[in-house]
Amino acid sequence: MAAIRVAVIGAGGIAAAHLRAYAAQAARCEIAGIADVVEAAAQEKAAQYGGQAFDDSERMLDALQPDAVSICTPPKFHLPAVKAAAARGIAVLCEKPPARSLQETEAIVAAAEKYDTLLQFAFCHRFHPPLRAARALIQSGRLGQLAQIENRFGFRFAWAGQSWFTEADIAGGGILIDTLVHSIDIFRALTDEEIESAQAQVSSALPIDVEDSASLLLRGRGGVLGSLNCSWVTPVSEAIVRIYGTEGQALLDYNAEPGLRYKLAEDDDWTERRFTGQPDRFVAQADSFLCCIERGESPVVGGEDGLAVMRVIEAAYESAGVTR
Ligand SMILES: NC(=O)c1ccc[n+]([C@@H]2O[C@H](COP(=O)([O-])OP(=O)(O)OC[C@H]3O[C@@H](n4cnc5c(N)ncnc54)[C@H](O)[C@@H]3O)[C@@H](O)[C@H]2O)c1
Repeated sequence: MAAIRVAVIGAGGIAAAHLRAYAAQAARCEIAGIADVVEAAAQEKAAQYGGQAFDDSERMLDALQPDAVSICTPPKFHLPAVKAAAARGIAVLCEKPPARSLQETEAIVAAAEKYDTLLQFAFCHRFHPPLRAARALIQSGRLGQLAQIENRFGFRFAWAGQSWFTEADIAGGGILIDTLVHSIDIFRALTDEEIESAQAQVSSALPIDVEDSASLLLRGRGGVLGSLNCSWVTPVSEAIVRIYGTEGQALLDYNAEPGLRYKLAEDDDWTERRFTGQPDRFVAQADSFLCCIERGESPVVGGEDGLAVMRVIEAAYESAGVTR
């Protein structure tokens, strides 16, 4: 198969991770173009990673006719970008959150279905090597029956209030839709079950119009409980997932090696798993996306996953009394 020609829409922070991941697989894909409404941003990334720079994404899609596109714009612009790509038969890797709302996510999935184009949502944690290993551990049965999952993503967001991330019209909300969206997908990936109940509380310590801290309690259909917490105002950066089963427990720490530790009922000590040298989650995510194009496979995180997560986001905001 000829190299897959990829383009990227939106040339900011996360675009760099997509471009780096495509560049790491240069034998399989070629970076054809990068578009950003701020042309200088597209030019800067093109100078670093190759490809042509554009200030208009649809003009880029028409001029280059790429096979695949990563959509790395703020959430408000995901829907029009997916529609434009899908209508041209271009495979889409769309950043999280899928969109600002369930309704917009439904329109994204409908556009991909209408034009029969590949749609993968960039829930990158699915591809985090320690998370994959934890999932395999759960599936091996060694942790017994899953009982509870706890997760915390906390850090100090220095640009809160000066960034689109804290503008509801662009982001669709605050940290709940921005960060807990990952946590919900992690819960679904680890439990392999849909969520039947979601109750959230949110608050803001900062003078911003959206929530900067959120806590969410979940119950999966099989009875697994989830306690998911995230904050933009806590200065010590933490990214942790704890998994508790009837025969053992596991701890994932994104900021430490070993990335995964587990202890079974009969163990005296923790078993440590290190992942140094393995492709990171962005490279593995791009690899999975390219595999789908090469082999015609379904994505690991497709339209139904995006819809399932966004149903929980809607229920969470509703339970917290937030009208959006
Ligand atoms: N997977 C992750 O872990 C992760 C991490 C960070 C951000 N994200 C997601 O990635 C997306 C982008 O976030 P970011 O941090 O890169 O933001 P950013 O602000 O750094 O970059 C966004 C870029 O998009 C450009 N842009 C805006 N509207 C556009 C349009 N209509 N067409 C083309 N370009 C447009 C902006 O000029 C900017 O350069 C968001 O959906 C965000 O939630 C995901």
